[in-house]
Amino acid sequence: MALRNIREMGEDVLTKKSKEVREMNDRTRALIDDMLETMYESGGVGLAAPQVGVLKRIVVIDVSDTGDEPVVLINPQILETSGEQTGWEGCLSVPGKSGKVTRPLYVRASALNRDMEPFEIEGTELMARAICHELDHLDGKLYVDLVEGDLVDNSELEKEAEEGSEQENGDGDNREEKAESAT
Ligand code: NI
Repeated sequence: MALRNIREMGEDVLTKKSKEVREMNDRTRALIDDMLETMYESGGVGLAAPQVGVLKRIVVIDVSDTGDEPVVLINPQILETSGEQTGWEGCLSVPGKSGKVTRPLYVRASALNRDMEPFEIEGTELMARAICHELDHLDGKLYVDLVEGDLVDNSELEKEAEEGSEQENGDGDNREEKAESAT
């Protein structure tokens, strides 16, 4: 396994549509292993192949706190969504920034696993957000185009969070996901 270079906004490869994976081979297996290693090393909860410069429809996600529940999605397709959530989102290809994005609250998707066997996955909240964000990468789309308001520096968000926690906050309405959900 090896770390791969994460491509950043402004690079062409992030705006292109990725191609379906037709067969599994050693090269693609190595790519998946490297994507997982790169995601964990970067502290992200998801990574799509174009983010490491490869235009293949492959996504890795791990939204667990422990970082030991990797999900590999090959040729993923969203089958069903419902509800809505608005929260902070980040992207490893847009380092140091976050923005508010509205996504479905629930997502069900189909994909192939690393043995090219079909399966379905469903998730809510961060998992639903991650699936949508990563699948957008496969179509050359970045979350920055969906941001409501401005992209903000993570350092500003952290400052706000500190100030906010000093106030007594009666209801939970203002609670926002931490911006560390970089994908
Ligand atoms: Ni991303």
